[in-house]
Amino acid sequence: MKLSSATLAACLIAKAAAAGGVAPQDVSFAEDGAVAVSLSGMAGDPAAGARIMTTRGKGNCIACHAVTTLADAPFHGEVGPALDGAADRWEEAQLRGIVADSKKTFEGSVMPSFYKTTGYIRPGKGYTGRAAEADPMAPLLSAQEIEDVVAYLMTLKD
Ligand code: HEC
Repeated sequence: MKLSSATLAACLIAKAAAAGGVAPQDVSFAEDGAVAVSLSGMAGDPAAGARIMTTRGKGNCIACHAVTTLADAPFHGEVGPALDGAADRWEEAQLRGIVADSKKTFEGSVMPSFYKTTGYIRPGKGYTGRAAEADPMAPLLSAQEIEDVVAYLMTLKD
């Protein structure tokens, strides 16, 4: 069976919603970019979060951020600040907001929005007036993967 990426995205989003989570288009960001509630409705697993952060094709956060506790993984980039001590600088809700959609916290950031399916410029769709929801893109990370990453970030205390 061949699944189109749109079908797949719709399934993923439906799954997140069914599990008591928040779909990407329903995330409520505070004025400062923070997201108060768990996107999956469940707690995150820090060990899974560390894997996601160091896996290409998942978060691959270390392509841009140095993290001392993840130093075994190769290719630490320096595009973004080192994440050591992130939990001392930010509340959990703020970290969730940064990972879900960094642009809500840092205007114009080059950091990808990991839990976002709408608002991208799609070639060929600009003038059709068709609703973006008819053609959802899969978020880069699932709701639970975001929670896992946030759980790992919460362990980063100086
Ligand atoms: C393409 C590069 C890039 C990638 C990939 C990236 N980030 Fe970032 N990130 C940045 C930049 C740049 C900033 C600084 C904010 C800004 O844009 O001005 C930042 C800021 C942050 C901050 C706030 C920094 C602090 O401690 O004050 C956190 C937390 C963070 N990123 C987490 C992550 C996580 C977790 C991932 C992976 C899921 C990730 N980032 C992936 C570029 C990146």
